[in-house]
Order: sequence, then structure tokens, then C-alpha cells
Amino acid sequence: MSRPFPTQSQLLLPVMETIAEMGGSAEPSVVIDAVAERLGIPDGIKNDFRTIDTGKWGLRKRSAFRQCLHWVRMTAVTAGLISRTERGRWTLTDKGKDSLVTCQPGLILIVYETPDGQAVWADAITTAGAVADNTVNLLFTSPPYPILNGRKYGTFTEAEIVELIVRCARGWRRALMDDGSLVINTRDCWLPKAASGGTVRSLWQEKLLLALCEDVKLYFADRLWWRNPSHLPDNPWVTVKKCRCNCDVESLLWLSKGPNPRANNQNILADAAPSTIQAYVRKARRGALNHVGPSTHNNLFEEQIGAVMAGQSLKVIPRNLLEFSNGDTHHTLTHELKELGLPRHDAMMPVKLAEHIIRFLTVKGDLVWDPFFGSGTTGVAAEKLGRRWIGSDRSLAHLLGSALRFENTTFEPPGQPG
Ligand SMILES: C[S@@+](CC[C@H](N)C(=O)[O-])C[C@H]1O[C@@H](n2cnc3c(N)ncnc32)[C@H](O)[C@@H]1O
Repeated sequence: MSRPFPTQSQLLLPVMETIAEMGGSAEPSVVIDAVAERLGIPDGIKNDFRTIDTGKWGLRKRSAFRQCLHWVRMTAVTAGLISRTERGRWTLTDKGKDSLVTCQPGLILIVYETPDGQAVWADAITTAGAVADNTVNLLFTSPPYPILNGRKYGTFTEAEIVELIVRCARGWRRALMDDGSLVINTRDCWLPKAASGGTVRSLWQEKLLLALCEDVKLYFADRLWWRNPSHLPDNPWVTVKKCRCNCDVESLLWLSKGPNPRANNQNILADAAPSTIQAYVRKARRGALNHVGPSTHNNLFEEQIGAVMAGQSLKVIPRNLLEFSNGDTHHTLTHELKELGLPRHDAMMPVKLAEHIIRFLTVKGDLVWDPFFGSGTTGVAAEKLGRRWIGSDRSLAHLLGSALRFENTTFEPPGQPG
């Protein structure tokens, strides 16, 4: 006998996903209508009211579809996925939010492997539920931004992208080691003119940060800034209306699973600028070292001044503004991609930026994961530095293109498991 609507167990996931999309809580009638729309349930079935025995509440006039969703809700309440206490609303519990990540059905295919890495074709939500607990030292990624004029890999609204990252982050947190870190590259975006009426910024990064700390329970370890000196002005407010400046910095939001993430700034010491060297020399001449604070601090200055006086190059603690250009790094790759008929990724980050973060937050042999792998930059940097890596992306074309950036790849075309 054909069924007019899905069974209860088939409905559990769509019901929970619908509530999650409504911010985690909504009135029952609103959820039911949205689930019906999601599943393409015709109005005739959704609104086919009949007198039904509802058990505890006796005979009631309800449509069989609505009644079925009420039973689904009861099943979810019993399993601890939907709150028992909130009346008049269906609200996901923390367990419910977590299980949305882990129960997501999805396809995971290893596209190629290197001695240290695996490139995987899968949606970020799916991989967030699939990587083993407490295994990842660093998750470094550059997710899609809310861009309204569209990139080749998709266009997301502000709410969609925050929801996607927060949903994934529940799984990412579980997969991170206790002293592991999560670094997310984000950038400022303008609000759509139709919505804001003017030229103003979106608060999507602030919303994301709050949700990651308050809902997902990650710590906000720090924020670094990446300046791309070769960034060209790219929006009409700057170039046509001329009412805003060219923005060439992006954020690197550094979050962690625990309050003391592993990090070592000695792994990323920077070359001192000439003005810093001159300042040391002036200090040495004035004999000012006796007055510069605690003794270890003095020792450091003494060592550095010794190095400068001996004509050696001076290394200093890195600043939180990183400058890496991505202007000219990928010409050879572009050529190879063209020959193979594969697309060039239009948001490749500089390998040196990924190297800097990986050096800072991991040691050799650690595992680094990028769930929005794109052209594979994180993997290239990790491999170069002797870290193991996992890269996943939902674009097969970009994954295939990324394989060109590695030597020693074992390549299995999808559909021909080895
Ligand atoms: C900003 S790009 C990453 C660029 C990368 N850092 C590089 O250097 O090439 C974002 C990537 O996320 C991928 N993506 C978008 N939505 C996704 C999703 N739901 N699951 C997995 N990947 C997704 C896109 O295919 C795109 O390659």
C-alpha cells in the first residue's frame, strides 16, 4: 500500500532540521507547515482534518499528517532531542542540536590521498559528523562568505552561512583535541541595499562569534588580521559611489575547545623591521636595559641587542597583523587546470598564510583539517610542514584541481573505489 506521507522515523530528521533553521525553537503550527512544504506534502493531505483518537486527549479533529508530526515530536522528546518543558513551542535541546550533525545522512568519498593527507568529497555538515572524536589538533578553514553577487561555488545569505558554520562547529568541537584550535578566516560584508536602505556593514562575523562561544561552547582565544596588499577594490561603494575605503584586511577568528589552546609564538618569529633594530641600538647606547622590566624580559633584550651588534638578523615576536599577498602565486596551476578543463578556484588563499597558522598552533605529526578545502591550500601547507591533513569540500571539480598541487598522490576516480 502506498503511503500518503513519510513514516515517523523518516520525519524525525526533517522536523529537527526545520526547527534548527527557525533558530532552534518555533510554534508547532509553524514547524508543521514548514515541514509539509519541505517535503512537498500537498495541502489536501496536510489539511485533511478528521476526528482522530489522540489517546490522552480523547477525540480531536486533526489531520493525520499533523497528528503524525505530533507523535514525531513525542518520540524526539522521549529521546531528549526536543525540550519536554517548553509549552506551546518545539525547542531543540543541546543533544538535539548535536545529533543533527551526527545523524546527517551524507556521501563521503575519498578522491585522492598523499602520504600525509586525504582529500574527501563531502558536504561540510557530513564530515563534521564523521571525523573521529579528539583527533584533530587544528581546524583551519576559510568558509564561504555571505556574498550577494555570487561566487562560482555558491551564494549564501548571512543567516545561512552563520547557521551552516555553527551547525558544523558542534561536530568540529567534538573532533578537536582538548588543547586544539579552530581558526576561521572571515571578512566584512555589506548588507544588501534592499534590506538596509544604504551602505552599511553586516554584523555576520559578530553573530557567528557569539554563537560559536555561547551555543557551541568554544573559547575565543584571539583574533588575528590578514592583510592582502594585492587586494584590488572590488565593490561599487568604493569604486563607483566612492563613499567607502578599499578594505584589504580579513579576520582570522581563533577559537579553541579549552581555555588553554596549544600555541607557540617562537615557531613564527618575524624578521625585525629596520625601525625596530634602530630602537634596540638606541636603547643599548643609552644603557637603558637596566630599566626595562622583569629579568627574563631583560635577558631577551640583551640577547637581541647582542645579535644586532654582531650584525645578525633580528627575530622578534610576531604581530597579530599578517601580510601575505595572493597576487601571483598560482600561475602554473591555472595553466594546468585549463589544460584539464577544470575551473580555477576564485578564492585561493596564500600558502604562506596557512603555513603561519599551522606553525603557530601545531607541531610535526599533528592533524590539520580544512572542511572547506577549495583548491587545497591548507593541505599544501600542512604537507610541506610535516603535518597530517584532511581536506573536504563539496565541489568535486575543485578537489580534482587541488590534486595537481601535490606530489605522490594516489588518485582514485570517484565511483571506482580501490
Ligand atoms: C572560500 S573557499 C575556500 C578556499 C580555500 N581556502 C583555498 O585556498 O582554496 C570556500 C569553499 O567552500 C566550499 N563549500 C561551500 N559550501 C560548502 C559546504 N556546505 N560543504 C563543503 N564545502 C563547501 C566551496 O566549494 C569552496 O571551495
